[in-house]
Amino acid sequence: MSSQGTHGVLITMEGVEGSGKSTQLLRLSERLRRLEVPMVVTKEPGGTPLGQEIRRLLLQPHASGEAWCAEAELLLFYADRAQHLHGVIRPALEAGKIVLCDRFEDSTRAYQGASGVPEFVLDRLHELVLQRLRPHLTLLLDMDPQVSLQRVEVRNLGYGGAFQETRFDEAQLEFHQRVRNRFLAIAKAEPQRVALIPARSTPAEVEHAVWQRVAPLLRNAGFQVG
Ligand code: TYD
Repeated sequence: MSSQGTHGVLITMEGVEGSGKSTQLLRLSERLRRLEVPMVVTKEPGGTPLGQEIRRLLLQPHASGEAWCAEAELLLFYADRAQHLHGVIRPALEAGKIVLCDRFEDSTRAYQGASGVPEFVLDRLHELVLQRLRPHLTLLLDMDPQVSLQRVEVRNLGYGGAFQETRFDEAQLEFHQRVRNRFLAIAKAEPQRVALIPARSTPAEVEHAVWQRVAPLLRNAGFQVG
């Protein structure tokens, strides 16, 4: 668990879509804000102004109907990450801050891995861009995509009516099952770093479970968190 001689703490939040990740990140950041600890809240893709451009390229379907091939997509996620590390994450860690990041490298391993990118390619890029930097703690909000994707559907219907309707078909469900399994495999391989948090309980219960993992880490790092 090294941050290359830095003194801050990097905490990442991971999970499949609809797992409540962003809600929990917000709750955690609000709690830390009340405690007045130095903190940066950020996300991938899109944690920098240029990264926002990459995010748009990645997530908005192109008018031509052309989609990124798996390798190009992977490199865009890593371009975003390299810029994010350079402009936001490393400077904040060097300044001794807590960095809360919504998605990070495990998302690439889970999603691009599930899209068929071989493990050795992921390892190479990881080494190139992250070097020895690892999150001190990764909170994996685990939920069956069968349930979590329904939440996304309901949410999208609620916001935008028919226009923004999102329906996940069988193939997408199967893809998200593979993503989940990859997240679970990472948690199993790195139990010290990855806290597996069942996300089907109430938001308050999940928040409690998150805090149980975060508080001791921050205390050990010298932050006053009660
Ligand atoms: P976003 O709208 O941020 O979704 P969420 O609220 O679920 O985080 O979109 C991010 C999407 O990008 C999400 O589908 C996961 C995907 N992603 C990857 O495929 N690889 C990555 O490395 C990252 C960071 C995200």
